[in-house]
Amino acid sequence: MIAVVGSLNLDLIARVARLPVPGETVSASSYLQSLGGKGANQAVAAARAGSAVHFIGRVGTDPAGAALRVSLSESSVDTTFVTQDHEGSTGTALIAVDNRGDNTIIVVPGVNAHLQPSDVDAARDVIEQSSILLLQLEVPLETVRYAAGLAQRSGITVILNPSPSQELPASLLDLVDILVPNEEEVAYLTGMGSPVDPISAAGMLCSNGVEAVVLTLGSQGATIVNGNGETDIPAYAVEPVDTTGAGDAFVGNLAAALDAGQSLEDSARFASAAAALSVQVPGAQPSMPTKEETDAFIARTGAS
Ligand code: ATP
Ligand code: RIB
Repeated sequence: MIAVVGSLNLDLIARVARLPVPGETVSASSYLQSLGGKGANQAVAAARAGSAVHFIGRVGTDPAGAALRVSLSESSVDTTFVTQDHEGSTGTALIAVDNRGDNTIIVVPGVNAHLQPSDVDAARDVIEQSSILLLQLEVPLETVRYAAGLAQRSGITVILNPSPSQELPASLLDLVDILVPNEEEVAYLTGMGSPVDPISAAGMLCSNGVEAVVLTLGSQGATIVNGNGETDIPAYAVEPVDTTGAGDAFVGNLAAALDAGQSLEDSARFASAAAALSVQVPGAQPSMPTKEETDAFIARTGAS
């Protein structure tokens, strides 16, 4: 069982030929409203990959909040601890996606910013019964740290996807078992700035108490850095349509495979396949594959 403490957003997605530079206006060729939020995306990904998932988060009393609850429920994510907050709007993400499937995202946190340690306490029983707690950084850091502390005291594996990038106190990193950053996030976390060798940066985080870093490298795949050294996990060669949520597909599927008892390396290989499927479908939550779809893709194309 997996508990996810995190964000839910309504994604407003404009497709453009190329992303605008500062000061520039560009016209979109299409527009789509979809459901997202890093926490909710990862919860949907893990549930479709076969895990029992409980979500702890906040939505507003608006239609977007209701739609997000329905989307989670339709993917069999338990929403008992998704609270309706009367003091603000559901989180919103303004997303532009270009012809190559690359994106820029601006997140307006809304009531995600209100998620408190008391929300975590309300779900203490389900967190303590879980094998994995999955965290990101779209809700207040104090809440993330509180949840990680609770899980660590209960011997639960803590996975942190440190996205969006921000500085993290050592007191939080100490509570993390598996960190899943992308190249930009790992550079930020080590304070090494860019350009930096991301593998060395991941190694530095391991020597600072994190058990394993699974560094995602977009179309280049991922690298696991831990006490055993480095293990490359190749990406699948696919034509990306929209990479929004690729990281979330990877993290959710990694957690689900670990929850099912697979090794970290096998879990990362499964996650790479699921993420390759996700980049071929527009939107975040709609792009998360089921376990059957990922298994069939691996059978068709071979293991990565
Ligand atoms: P995003 O912010 O777009 O959700 P991210 O920056 O957090 O993504 P990435 O490293 O871009 O994460 O991608 C996560 C994983 O998704 C990669 O490790 C890889 O397995 C898969 N992936 C991403 N882009 C591609 C691609 N173009 N082709 C195949 N697989 C991809
Ligand atoms: O990781 C993708 C997600 O980032 C989008 O769904 C958007 O809501 C932002 O949270």
